[in-house]
Amino acid sequence: MTNTVKKILVTSALPYANGSIHLGHLVEYIQTDIWVRFQKIRGHQCYYVCADDAHGTPIMLHAQKKNSTPEELIAHFQAEHQADFAAFLINFDNYHSTHSPENQHFSNLIYKSLIDGEHIARTTIRQFYDPTEKMFLPDRFIHGECPHCGATEQYGDHCEKCSKTYSPTELKNPVSVVSGTTPIEKDTEHLFVKLEDFESMLQDWISSGTLQPEMHHKLKEWFEAGLKAWDISRDAPYFGFEIPGESNKYFYVWLDAPVGYISSFKNLCDRENIDFEEFWGEDSEAELYHFIGKDIIYFHALFWPAMLSAAGFRKPTAIFAHGFLTVDGQKMSKSRGTFINARTYLKYLKPEYLRYYFAAKLGNGVDDIDLNMEDFLQRVNSDLVGKFVNIASRCAGFITKYFKGQLSSQLAAPALYQEFLTEGNHIAHAYESRDYNKAMRDIMTLADRANQYIDKHKPWIMVKQEESQAELQAVCSQGLNLFRILMGYLSPILPVMTKEVEKFLMAPITWQPEPLLAHTIKAFKPLMIRINQKQIDAMLEASKETLATPPAKEPVSKMIDYDDFSKVDLRIARIVKAEHVEGAQKLLRLTLAVGEDKPRNVFAGIKDAYTPEQLTGKLTVMVANLAPRKMRFGVSEGMVLAAGPGKKDLFILTPDEGAQPGMRVK
Ligand code: MSP
Ligand code: ZN
Repeated sequence: MTNTVKKILVTSALPYANGSIHLGHLVEYIQTDIWVRFQKIRGHQCYYVCADDAHGTPIMLHAQKKNSTPEELIAHFQAEHQADFAAFLINFDNYHSTHSPENQHFSNLIYKSLIDGEHIARTTIRQFYDPTEKMFLPDRFIHGECPHCGATEQYGDHCEKCSKTYSPTELKNPVSVVSGTTPIEKDTEHLFVKLEDFESMLQDWISSGTLQPEMHHKLKEWFEAGLKAWDISRDAPYFGFEIPGESNKYFYVWLDAPVGYISSFKNLCDRENIDFEEFWGEDSEAELYHFIGKDIIYFHALFWPAMLSAAGFRKPTAIFAHGFLTVDGQKMSKSRGTFINARTYLKYLKPEYLRYYFAAKLGNGVDDIDLNMEDFLQRVNSDLVGKFVNIASRCAGFITKYFKGQLSSQLAAPALYQEFLTEGNHIAHAYESRDYNKAMRDIMTLADRANQYIDKHKPWIMVKQEESQAELQAVCSQGLNLFRILMGYLSPILPVMTKEVEKFLMAPITWQPEPLLAHTIKAFKPLMIRINQKQIDAMLEASKETLATPPAKEPVSKMIDYDDFSKVDLRIARIVKAEHVEGAQKLLRLTLAVGEDKPRNVFAGIKDAYTPEQLTGKLTVMVANLAPRKMRFGVSEGMVLAAGPGKKDLFILTPDEGAQPGMRVK
């Protein structure tokens, strides 16, 4: 056991309060939780905090789409996230939200320090603006044709076809994803952090052992390309914190997101009387580690230390980045059923299987890790059930049946016990350096040795020989004591099983324990059931189902009065022509007769659900007084009504024949 007690604060990245936790996320939270549990069992004072990342445009728009408020949406996801994490045995000391008073306080404080240090610049930039929605558009909310290869429906910042990057204003025929209309370019003043002010501090910091070699390398490339000022403001409408002293400006979500690490910890300090300064003060001697995915290293290794140093907070001791999860060698995919949500997994399989499997695969680098379903089943069944649990199940029955649950008063093989303890030092080192795959290999090698010991002494033969009774008790007691050491080594991975084993052995599980001698244990109960292929198949199948358009559970929106309703002019229309639109993926062009002199031209996003032939000649209902909208392919003069979640599942309204085009629908 180490003799100095360290003070350690550990974080995982804050998941967006905008979607469900999936197995990819869990790589990170399981990796971190194992490390924290390891520090705790070794006697250190270690805190693990996290929070939901609640701000930003996607959350605002998601709420609008659901006819809800951002506050309601983030509360919903926060509850879901916390339940999922708890189910996967992720043991946070605190879980907070970036939409909290503490976080606003610290964000303002850091911003004020940046201003006082003259690190903030104002620059007018030109950005796309959606005139119908009256909002500036983030890059990912603009679609258009790639300026390089001409591919349609590409994002505002990069092309998925030719992988080139560009600025959104270079896109051809840009369309706002929010309204479907053509955005305009508009000037706006933004606030920037002058990152170059921090250049030498950052250079030193990234070269002082704070990053993994691969990440250090990546950062050096960015330095060579030159540090750019960081845009930290967004214009209203935005869901976030308003910037003090400005009007209609908000902090960009990535400004207040990492501040969530501080504010979640502060929230814990206030509740449990922990000395905040000891962990975040400039001269703090505590250790601070951030576990993150390699995709967000830029924010954590450049912006974050700059913000911290400007405001007189300590900087992280190290940043531990990990790679991405692939499933059966490929990116997680909804159509293959490999985009697996935490909840879906839990319906079919136990969390400890996945914790062990990830541990067996995780090293301390940033390589992607693969969840191979066949390997997953094999590994868990053969290592945990076949090797590890097997040690206890082979020994415990004899102790219960022939010795009233009493272990022998001496170890049969004290040298072997000692060897198991000594090996613990290597295993500890592997955990400490996040080489979990090495730790698991070492533990399983010891499990093999314990099984070999039992094989050699053959308790099932001894039990038949009267003169061997004392030896039978000693050998089985030895086996159980070896098992108990290994349970200690596996306890950061398997917290539930650890508790079960404590009950069964009626003794605590600790790291490198004294042997249990002349001690009474309870009867053995199976500690883990083998994974069955059927469970995996069912989980994959169910993951496909979650994709299949869920029934639209849209809440009924707020009440309107009759006056509001009467403003909407609904009319019977005859679809006289329906045709494909060159270059449009979702739209059909409809020519609608509504009893006026001139037919109406309407673009409808129903191409996945209907062919032009199916529509031609049908009656339907249209909103006749919707202001004309200029779209990429022409002006749309109204809207037809359709129900359903979208894509193929979209149903237009068709009145009975007899209704006349132009009749008002009331
Ligand atoms: N909200 C930001 C983080 C802010 S931290 C101040 C964010 N959220 S996220 O929900 O997209 O991701 C949370 C963490 O999960 C990130 O570290 C991310 O790298 C990780 N992962 C998300 N998908 C992943 C995989 N498929 N595989 C492994 N890790 C993944 O980023
Ligand atoms: Zn392209």
